[in-house]
Parts: sequence; structure tokens; C-alpha cells
Amino acid sequence: MFALLRCLKDFVTYDADREFYAKVFPESVTKVDLMRLRKMRKTDFARVLEIEAKNYRFPWSQETFKDCFAALSYTCWVCEEGDKVVGYGILSIAAGEAHILNISVAPEAQGLGVGRKMMEHLIEIARKKAQTLFLEVRVSNTKAQALYESLGFNEIGIRKNYYPAENNSREHAIMLALELL
Ligand SMILES: CC(C)(COP(=O)(O)OP(=O)(O)OC[C@H]1O[C@@H](n2cnc3c(N)ncnc32)[C@H](O)[C@@H]1OP(=O)(O)O)[C@@H](O)C(=O)NCCC(=O)NCCS
Repeated sequence: MFALLRCLKDFVTYDADREFYAKVFPESVTKVDLMRLRKMRKTDFARVLEIEAKNYRFPWSQETFKDCFAALSYTCWVCEEGDKVVGYGILSIAAGEAHILNISVAPEAQGLGVGRKMMEHLIEIARKKAQTLFLEVRVSNTKAQALYESLGFNEIGIRKNYYPAENNSREHAIMLALELL
């Protein structure tokens, strides 16, 4: 009960501080600082699917998002600017291992720091319950690889022909891991 109240107080205080600094020292607060991370709701699905379709040639279906949302070992987050969702991330944690299953930022909000903000948040959640955080990334996705490497992830292997690709072909995945202890 006290932990819940403390969480609520920290959240309210943080929001109030951010708004105070944005008003008094506008140059000290970036656009991304003013964005908020919160748990995904079912009402976010339409926007999440819209971003998913824009970002991936082979997007997840609504059913896949629903399954992630329903699974107890999964936690699904969004980042919003005002009341508009600009990105999302999905993490699973089981038996001391965490996996980032999806992270995606709306094309118009990319390159501002939203992806890094979401990754740092998911890493902090994973750190509380897991020893290692894993993820896979397409060999061609050098932008995401740069983000993961800057956060300390290391390559631990290749999953051959893991992803569907153009013309019925397949693309390898690079497997990355971050030690959390
Ligand atoms: C990958 C993705 C999540 C990154 O999110 P983002 O908000 O654009 O990234 P950020 O602005 O937080 O940048 C974080 C880092 O990513 C890398 N990065 C971002 N844009 C880049 C670009 N155009 N070229 C190369 N590296 C880039 C840099 O390392 C950057 O760190 P820096 O700003 O300190 O240089 C986002 O581009 C995205 O949603 N892509 C489509 C979906 C996807 O590929 N998801 C990952 C699947 S594994």
C-alpha cells in the first residue's frame, strides 16, 4: 500500500517538476523530456497498429498485440506527446530472462530520443527481475543496432533466416544481450 502511494507521489511530483521547469526554464527541457511513458491501454491499439504498419514491411497483427497485452509476463508501454502516442515498447520477463519483443517510434517522432527513452525505461523494469535482457534485430536495421550498442548490448549470435523478407526470402537476425547485474 505504501509502495503504491510512493509510486503515485513520485509520478505526480515528477510531472509537476517537469511542467515547472518547462515554464520557468524552457531551454532546460527538451521535447522528449516533456513526453510521458505509461502502460499501454486497449484504446491505444488503433494508434499502435497505425505506427506498426508504417514502420514494418511485415507488421504484427492486432491479435499479436492483444496476446502480449493479456500475457501476465509481458509489459506493454507507450510514449505520448500530449495525448498522442508516438511510440511503444513490449517487454517479457520470465525465469530471470527478459526480452524486448518490439520497440517502435512513429516516423515523424524518430531521431528525437524517444527510442532511447523507451529503451532506458524497459531496461530499468527488466533490471528489477532479470539478470539478462535479450533482443533480436534485422541485419539490415543499422539504426536500431546503433541504439542498442550505445546502451551496452553485445552481439551473442545470429539466428539464420529468422525474419520474413522481400520476394519470399528471409533475413538473418542478430541476437543481442545486455547483462543487467
Ligand atoms: C529504431 C528506433 C526504435 C529508434 O528510435 P528513435 O526514437 O528514432 O531513436 P533515438 O532518437 O532515441 O536515437 C537513439 C539512437 O539511435 C541511433 N539512431 C537514431 N537515428 C539514427 C539514424 N538516422 N541513423 C543512424 N543511427 C540512428 C543513434 O545511435 C541514436 O543515438 P544518438 O542520438 O545518441 O546518436 C526507431 O527508429 C524505429 O521505430 N524504427 C522502426 C522500427 C524498428 O526498427 N524497431 C526496432 C526493431 S529491432
